[in-house]
Amino acid sequence: MRVLVVGSGGREHALAVKLRQSPGVTELFIAPGNGGTAEVGTNVPIADSDVAGLTAFAREAGVQLAVAGPELPLTLGLSEAMAEAGIPCFGPDRYAAGLEGSKAFAKEIMRASGVPTADFCIFTDPEAACAYIDETGAPVVVKADGLAAGKGVVVAATVAEAKAAVADMMVKKIYGSAGETVIVEQALSGEEASFLALCDGERYVPLSACQDHKAAFDGDKGPNTGGMGAYCPAPVLPESEYGRMADRVIAPIMRTLADRGHPFRGVLYAGLMMTEKGPMVLEYNVRFGDPECQPLLMRLRGDLAEILLACATGRLNEAMLGWSRQSAVCVVMAASGYPGAYPKGMEITGIDAAQADPEVTVYQAGTRREGERLVTSGGRVLGVTALGADLARAKERAYAAVAKIHFDNFFCRTDIGDKGLRRETKP
Ligand code: AMP
Ligand code: GLY
Repeated sequence: MRVLVVGSGGREHALAVKLRQSPGVTELFIAPGNGGTAEVGTNVPIADSDVAGLTAFAREAGVQLAVAGPELPLTLGLSEAMAEAGIPCFGPDRYAAGLEGSKAFAKEIMRASGVPTADFCIFTDPEAACAYIDETGAPVVVKADGLAAGKGVVVAATVAEAKAAVADMMVKKIYGSAGETVIVEQALSGEEASFLALCDGERYVPLSACQDHKAAFDGDKGPNTGGMGAYCPAPVLPESEYGRMADRVIAPIMRTLADRGHPFRGVLYAGLMMTEKGPMVLEYNVRFGDPECQPLLMRLRGDLAEILLACATGRLNEAMLGWSRQSAVCVVMAASGYPGAYPKGMEITGIDAAQADPEVTVYQAGTRREGERLVTSGGRVLGVTALGADLARAKERAYAAVAKIHFDNFFCRTDIGDKGLRRETKP
């Protein structure tokens, strides 16, 4: 099977590494890929947003399965374009990708499907949004409707802060057209969990629950990032709950989308807040999480190419998948300054030493080959991921591996997995 992975982050390196292990995969292309994906397949210099270019390449190269890493190409119609070329695509069509592409659409679908989510109102007029904020008071959450590169969500502690967010998004348009519509919603509190399910349009299989660490610094301090580390399984959502959780947050969405003529094929990611009143959905994503994908795939047992193809072609009942009993922890090593401006081009050393431990894989995200050297080219640079008999040992291994790797001015969180550890030690 010839497979094309679209994207260039740590998630795509993890997908590529696992796909390479599928016995049926004869050729693996990654567009545009990174320094890590170049070691397991062939990087193709086509941007993830260039749907026409990706489809033309896939057709010429005889690709038999396209796998979308990020959401952007899906919101631009990659799945339909591949279907027109007769190529199965792992990832939903443009309509269903709207679950991630438009928060207003996601809220509307959640409401129509009876999925538990924060109360909300949708606004296209800043004055109406501010009047509503006066009514609800703070804390309150203001979200830009469209894709804003993981930004665009302000959890406001005061009414003034919420109104400032409305002005930034709707009047100053700091996220461009993504902020023309905003959602104002009730602020929830609790621990977050990432609950993903593979879907083939009709059937679904829940994946092991993960926990991401979105804040830049230890103790969930600092600015929001794409994710500074993740681990799985996450005890915040025990395995015995997966079935019930899928009934509440996955099945109803799949049913609504299928009824509307857009069956969901790919991976549906529910971002949950485990509140005192029960789990609530904060958001849906239509792709694997990054970095959640890295620990997930390290624990996944099965032929990933066959599994993803089964999703794309409505045959998930034929897929065989299981899980290692070990825990996996992924620690992101980032360039200082991230998620703001950061330097690039720093040489990275020590990856081989870190991977001398067979239970460690260093997934590359923002890296690039420069002759013999591997240098940084992004904010999140590496996802150092380790397996261990339990969460504590996986964490220990991951940080031992981090200690062997160097690039100038890197930083990482030192507390990845600690919320899970605290939960495990509670009586
Ligand atoms: P989203 O992109 O909708 O997942 O939002 C990004 C982050 O903002 C989430 O991971 C939460 O940490 C936070 N967030 C989003 N919605 C809410 C909410 N209603 N209450 C509290 N925090 C929220
Ligand atoms: N790690 C969060 C996300 O991928 O959206």
